[in-house]
Amino acid sequence: MAQAAPGCFTLSDELLARLGEFIEAQFGIKTPPSKKSLLEGRLSKRLRALGLDSFEAYWDYLCGEVGRVEEFPFFSDLVSTHKTEFFRERQHFETLTATVLPGLLARGVGSAAPLLAWSCGCSTGEEPYTLAMVLDDYRASRAVPLDFNLLATDVSEPAIQRALRAVYHEDTAAPIPEAFRRRYLLRGSDAKEGLVRIAPALRAQVRFRVLNLMDEVYAAPHGMHLIFFRNVLIYFEKAVQERIIGRLKEHLAPGGHLFLGHSESIFGFAHGLEQIEPTLYRKAP
Ligand SMILES: C[S@@+](CC[C@H](N)C(=O)[O-])C[C@H]1O[C@@H](n2cnc3c(N)ncnc32)[C@H](O)[C@@H]1O
Repeated sequence: MAQAAPGCFTLSDELLARLGEFIEAQFGIKTPPSKKSLLEGRLSKRLRALGLDSFEAYWDYLCGEVGRVEEFPFFSDLVSTHKTEFFRERQHFETLTATVLPGLLARGVGSAAPLLAWSCGCSTGEEPYTLAMVLDDYRASRAVPLDFNLLATDVSEPAIQRALRAVYHEDTAAPIPEAFRRRYLLRGSDAKEGLVRIAPALRAQVRFRVLNLMDEVYAAPHGMHLIFFRNVLIYFEKAVQERIIGRLKEHLAPGGHLFLGHSESIFGFAHGLEQIEPTLYRKAP
């Protein structure tokens, strides 16, 4: 098959449409024709790694008995966008410590029973580790009992593996406040110069799991006090968005909070959640 650019294979419109339908059915992610070159670029790497010479051959492999099992994790990783950062949309963490946590703690959450939090669509771990730092610091700096269980999930297994390794380039740690960097990061030396790793005690606070939001039932506990579901919704069709929000609501505890990304909206959905701030919602206590 002709190559679009050096090392980049060409995806026919017909196969793009078929792949798009498959991606939407599996992950809920929209793949409009404008994403063609993005997909070509990302998937061409897999074709080269597998020694395949066309997208048609790749499609056959992906749908075959072996590919369905072995290629699926790579495929799911490549078709989704993992952009994330520590302390992304910092204002959420400020609201969390200023109003949300005091309100939850006043109701005995964190002392009588653990606070349950979920970073849903956690990508490579920056969001849940930020949350773990903020919760741990809140407990230490205010000397309050705050027992918490933090679950972090994503459809991409490679992203979850990177999150579990918890190794990041030093420059990605720049948004982390200096005092937190000293407490929660280990600095690499020699061959690991320029890298940082989340300290073991903080890593132990987060449980990572692969979870596809297109699943009928979410393998996650109910009674969540906090769900961070930020910058994921944006990739889904409206009907899928509404279905996922309805399911996440079922996983919220009464009085639990749902954080969305700053550019996301659930306006017009029959979700029954109370809007506290433009991207912060609460289930009725
Ligand atoms: C842009 S990242 C957002 C990361 C983080 N929440 C943040 O705000 O920085 C979107 C994540 O959603 C995940 N995702 C996409 N489709 C998904 C699905 N069907 N189920 C679960 N996660 C999905 C992607 O793998 C990706 O890691």
